Amino acid sequence: MQSGLLEAFDEKLARSNMRGQWKSEGFLNAAVGGPKPAGVPAMWTWAQVVELMAEAGDVMRESRQARRALMFHNPGLPRGATHTINMGVQMIVPGETAWAHRHSIAAIRFIIKGDRALTSIIDGEPCVMEDYDLVLTPNWSWHDHHNKSSEPVYWLDVLDVPLVLNLNQAFYEPGVGEDQPALPADFTPHAQLCYPWRDTESRLRFAPLDAHDGRRHDYLNPRTGGPTLPTLSCHALLLPPGFEGTSRRRTSSAVYFVVRGKGEFEAGDEKLRFQKYDSLVAPNFSRTRFVNTSKLQDAVLFSVEDTPVMKALGFYRES
Ligand SMILES: [Fe+2]
Repeated sequence: MQSGLLEAFDEKLARSNMRGQWKSEGFLNAAVGGPKPAGVPAMWTWAQVVELMAEAGDVMRESRQARRALMFHNPGLPRGATHTINMGVQMIVPGETAWAHRHSIAAIRFIIKGDRALTSIIDGEPCVMEDYDLVLTPNWSWHDHHNKSSEPVYWLDVLDVPLVLNLNQAFYEPGVGEDQPALPADFTPHAQLCYPWRDTESRLRFAPLDAHDGRRHDYLNPRTGGPTLPTLSCHALLLPPGFEGTSRRRTSSAVYFVVRGKGEFEAGDEKLRFQKYDSLVAPNFSRTRFVNTSKLQDAVLFSVEDTPVMKALGFYRES
């Protein structure tokens, strides 16, 4: 077909809400060698977060129905820390309750500054939230949070919000009052919702050494032997003193929180120097590498990945 005739035909198709596939060959050619990373490597320092969170406490006096959380926005994306994962920090002040609700968005909490008197209730099950504990709130589980300590508490929130929104699968139900509704008679208790840090730390010491991640402990669902949640897997990484990791590229994306130590995180063309309580993002299919710049101290990181999604859908690749 002559080009003038083809262009006229393209316009005719458009008037019938159709489009010739010959107009879309460009995206296939652009995908030779794989996708471009979604978003950019990024870091949010703890110093930034605590300063702005103190201000959030002044301007938002209570967190009963809306959570007092600062969510990290990847400057290369319309939403989210990665194209599938939200990450941020939440604070609850002494005596405060974040009231019950549930959503089809799954979430994890990694406690930064916790307390014996800080609890989350998830589908009726209480989880004490002490420093570095992990607490899961699976898709559609009721959850509320209570700070009965005398200090503000902080935790890392990681959720599958961008994935759920892009799939148009958002459901939400607010609770009524402070109490969660009664669970149905046939409710099956969750396999495990609370992962105390003391267990993780002792397992991490003896975890196998991975060339990219250092010693790597995978948090598992004891019922399935698989990842913590269908959409999000959780991991603890220990970079031994002087560790210089290999570089890796994966089709999954990841977020990291520095529990202790310091080092460098290379992602794409960026080299980010991290220290305690900083948060990092590795966009999918960006080349990443860790270095522990201390010759004396371990560096320990907590990470969350969307790898379960990519594996379930047959998209996971690693090189
Ligand atoms: Fe929630």
